[in-house]
Amino acid sequence: MTPAIDVQNLNVRFGDAHVLKDVSFRVFEGESFGLVGESGSGKSTVLRVLSGLNPSWSGAVSFAGKPHERRPNKAFYRHVQMVFQDPFASLHPRMTIDAALAEPLAIHGFDKPDQRIAAALKDVGLDEGFRFRYPHQLSGGQRQRVAIARALVLQPSILLLDEPTSALDVSIQAEVLNLLADIKLQRNLSLVLVSHNLAVIGHMCSRVGVMNGGRIVEDTDIGVLRETGGRESYTRELLAASRRASLTA
Ligand SMILES: Nc1ncnc2c1ncn2[C@@H]1O[C@H](COP(=O)(O)OP(=O)(O)O)[C@@H](O)[C@H]1O
Ligand SMILES: [Mg+2]
Repeated sequence: MTPAIDVQNLNVRFGDAHVLKDVSFRVFEGESFGLVGESGSGKSTVLRVLSGLNPSWSGAVSFAGKPHERRPNKAFYRHVQMVFQDPFASLHPRMTIDAALAEPLAIHGFDKPDQRIAAALKDVGLDEGFRFRYPHQLSGGQRQRVAIARALVLQPSILLLDEPTSALDVSIQAEVLNLLADIKLQRNLSLVLVSHNLAVIGHMCSRVGVMNGGRIVEDTDIGVLRETGGRESYTRELLAASRRASLTA
């Protein structure tokens, strides 16, 4: 089977800093793959390459067998969508929620924007009353729901999530994670979820790549990881840390 996402020997350098070192992993259609590692290990850099935000990389990256372009075309952005950590930064302060969702639909020439916007908000648990509000009139969790709605309104096949809950209050994190897990079940999305917290990954992913210093040091089934505690000492440390931290307050 051709993987939905195939990353082989991905390398990224920023000047002298060799930030990704031969990163390789595959994500099959409908699968959720987690990338876990401490801050600075290179997780966001992987997602920035996949999402087309960083054209300076070497290696072989393909989506459904098609090589990833350094400067992807418009069609690519309809199929590959990303949700960032900080919902404040990712929504324009002077755009209503309606405008924020209408923009990608217009860019990609979708019909029936009204219906699509209403449905997208409903899908993330926000009623019509939110539609003409501004980001500052929403809570952090509601804003992240809007960011998720904006990503999904284009009906992408691939969803990239960079620490989607770590900027949120602990009490809200589980709500947003449950929403993402529901969405994943309802749609046949291929998904990469980045987190520094293995508990977050365990909530949604069947497989996880453990990143340390720009490398994937372990690529394993979540169930196996829970049973064995991980092969690498670094993985075992992450697992212990995630067991100490609680997801919900
Ligand atoms: N645009 C950039 N220029 C220079 N260094 C960068 C840039 N982006 C990331 N880095 C460096 O690359 C490393 C990995 O960063 P990042 O992918 O953001 O890690 P993570 O998301 O795991 O916290 C860090 O050392 C970071 O400082
Ligand atoms: Mg990051």
